[in-house]
Amino acid sequence: MFHKFSHGILVLDYGSQYTLLIARKFRELGVYAEIIDGAKGKVPDGFEYTGIVLSGGPDSVSDVGARKIPQWVLDSGKPILGICYGMQLLVEHFGGKVRAGTHREYGNSKVRFDAKNSHLEGMFNGLSPSEVVWMSHGDDVASLPDCFDKIGLTTDNVVAMIAHKSEPILGLQFHPEVEHTTNGKQLLLGFAKLCKHPLDWQPGEMVESCMSYVKETVGSGHVLMGVSGGVDSTVAVKLMVEALGHDRVTACFVDNGLLRKNEKQWVSAQLTELGIKDLVVLDREEAFLNALRGVTEPEQKRKIIGNTFAREFEAYARAHKSEFTHLGQGTLYPDVIESAKHGAGAQVIKTHHNVGGLPADLGLKLVEPFRHLFKDEVRKIGLQLGIPEILVGRHPFPGPGLGVRVLGEVTKERCDILREADAVFIDRLRSEKLYDDVWQAFVVLLPVKTVGVMGDNRTYQSVCALRAVCSSDGMTADVSRLPFEFLTTVASEIVRKVHGINRVVYDITTKPPGTIEWE
Ligand code: XMP
Repeated sequence: MFHKFSHGILVLDYGSQYTLLIARKFRELGVYAEIIDGAKGKVPDGFEYTGIVLSGGPDSVSDVGARKIPQWVLDSGKPILGICYGMQLLVEHFGGKVRAGTHREYGNSKVRFDAKNSHLEGMFNGLSPSEVVWMSHGDDVASLPDCFDKIGLTTDNVVAMIAHKSEPILGLQFHPEVEHTTNGKQLLLGFAKLCKHPLDWQPGEMVESCMSYVKETVGSGHVLMGVSGGVDSTVAVKLMVEALGHDRVTACFVDNGLLRKNEKQWVSAQLTELGIKDLVVLDREEAFLNALRGVTEPEQKRKIIGNTFAREFEAYARAHKSEFTHLGQGTLYPDVIESAKHGAGAQVIKTHHNVGGLPADLGLKLVEPFRHLFKDEVRKIGLQLGIPEILVGRHPFPGPGLGVRVLGEVTKERCDILREADAVFIDRLRSEKLYDDVWQAFVVLLPVKTVGVMGDNRTYQSVCALRAVCSSDGMTADVSRLPFEFLTTVASEIVRKVHGINRVVYDITTKPPGTIEWE
């Protein structure tokens, strides 16, 4: 796939919610990392790995059927870093004991750290004797194998860091990949050094490699590319046009009636400006809203939207089947990994995940140039391709759109109310130059009515919530500390301008325990 990046660190996934973050943090440091299934995964063809990370996971090492360390990992002679469950696997394998914890430890903890007598001391440059770390575990180490040293303990005396006495093998009970571990990145960098891995991963330089992939995959064919106006599909369609020329790329945008205010016009204009000549816009608002009528349960809404999208897209592709050989998608690495569910065929499942399942008899092959990249890496490629900041820097927008932001029943009227309120918030963020300070911002329309007073009249209208978060990847998120004055200005503008809303609240929930969207 990537002709240049055939080397990196291999991350074995045992099911932790943070596995993707491990790969992402290494890549931020300039070290390419690939994820494979912890128990059944195979090293990708032609991939040279310099070190192996064993991720965390929900299993207990003593469970029947618990996933183990594959023998080839132990035979490899490469440096190994076990994180949480990964560390417990190491302890068990080398003859120590792991005990079932009586309670789950979740959150910040302090670790007293001392690696003076370890041959791996060099890995820990920059760490202080007391480090703040992020714990998320149930089990812990009861006794260490003889061949390991204890080099870190929490204030409750839980074994937090261990190092093999002679081999380049170490374990961390906490999560260095999570932002809350203050020097987590430093630790991962130390491991990369232990692996003697060069810091040579530069996503911006991947343009050439992605273009060759597109040329090789499509040959003399013609791509039907699904576009949404979001970062991934915009960068993907631009890359395809650069690689194949205008005549062999058709961009297809579905207006499902669940988009933000003026989105169709804005996206069409931006894509045209970007030099995308062949753009098809399908107006399918009615089909989507009809399918959603009376539905309030969020998962059901998601399924209906996904299926309707697939049906509409399929109808277009079928009607124009003879023109196209390939279906283009802006699929990202997290989509591939999250859809793969540990060892199932990632490619097959992803097709379904992204477009809700197009039938095999359509005969279109897939072309997904970013299926090994994270969003921020795609942004860098976008900038390299000359795509303006206003497109590359757009906040993420969920596939099901306003369908998961209008809580309760989704109707055109309620979507219109939300569109207006959302536009006030986003326009204000832009005009006050706060848009780029938040990772994602939007308004949610609640299925709750409250009493208010406007002029001399009683009102009985809906509540909306403003959501604004800081994040680097959407996997964890903090509440944006937007100025209070700004929030009150937005609130009064919404109540004044948007008929149907008489009260505005600000969501101050972090992720976890909340999610970013409300649904
Ligand atoms: P949550 O709500 O799970 O969202 O904290 C994390 C990030 O993912 C976005 N999101 C989606 N993006 N298709 C997408 O492309 C989806 O179905 C979807 N659902 C949530 C969400 O907006 C946030 O950025």
